[in-house]
Amino acid sequence: MRDEIDQVLISRTQIADRVAAVADRIVADLSTSAVTIPAIGNGVGELTLVPILTGSIIFVADLIRHLPLRMQLNMISVNSYPGTRTTTTGTPQIGELTNLPDSLVGRHVLVIDDILDSGKTMRLVIDQLRSRHPESLRSAVLLRKDRPQAAAVPIDYVCFDIPDEFVVGYGLDYNGYYRNHPEIVTLLPHIIEEDVT
Ligand code: IMP
Ligand code: MG
Repeated sequence: MRDEIDQVLISRTQIADRVAAVADRIVADLSTSAVTIPAIGNGVGELTLVPILTGSIIFVADLIRHLPLRMQLNMISVNSYPGTRTTTTGTPQIGELTNLPDSLVGRHVLVIDDILDSGKTMRLVIDQLRSRHPESLRSAVLLRKDRPQAAAVPIDYVCFDIPDEFVVGYGLDYNGYYRNHPEIVTLLPHIIEEDVT
C-alpha cells in the first residue's frame, strides 16, 4: 500500500488532535441543548448519531470516544445506482437511503460523513432527516473539498478543508480499498489514471 501513496495530506496526529478538538466543540454545543438531562426512557432529549456508511466509520469510531454523552448510533447507507462505483472522477449517482429511522421527534441528531465533495449526499440525507422532525439537527464531516458545490452546503463541524483532490485513508476508499490507511493521502497518478472517464 505504501508504494501507491503520493502525498500525505493529513497525518495521524493531526487527525487525532483535530477530531478531539471538534468533539469538544460538539459537546459544548450540545450541552446547551439539554442533551445531558437524564433519559426518561423514550429517547426525548437524547443524541442520535447518524453516520453515513462506509466512509465515516473510522471518523465516527474515534469521535464518539470523545463524546461522553448518552447516545445511540443509527448508521445509514446511501446506495449508489447499480453500475456506478467510487472513482476519482466524482460522486456516484445517489440512489436510495437505507436504515433511516422512522421518527426522530424529540431527538438531537448529528449526521456524520467522511467528505463533502459535491455535497449531494449530505443535502439528501439532511433533507430526509429534517423531514423526521428532530429536536435539533447538526452535521459533521471529516473533510471538505475546496469546491463551490461543497461550500454551498452549510456544515456545522468540518475537521479539515482540503484541496479538490482525490484522497483515501482513514475510512475513505478508492474502489473499496485503502480505507484502513491511517492517514489522509493522495495516490500516485498511475494508480488512478485508468479512471479518467
Ligand atoms: P458528495 O455527495 O459529492 O459530497 O460525495 C460524498 C461521497 O463521495 C463521500 O461520502 C465519499 O464516499 C465519496 N468521495 C468524494 N470524494 C472522495 C475522495 O476524494 N475520496 C474518496 N471518496 C470520495
Ligand atoms: Mg461515502
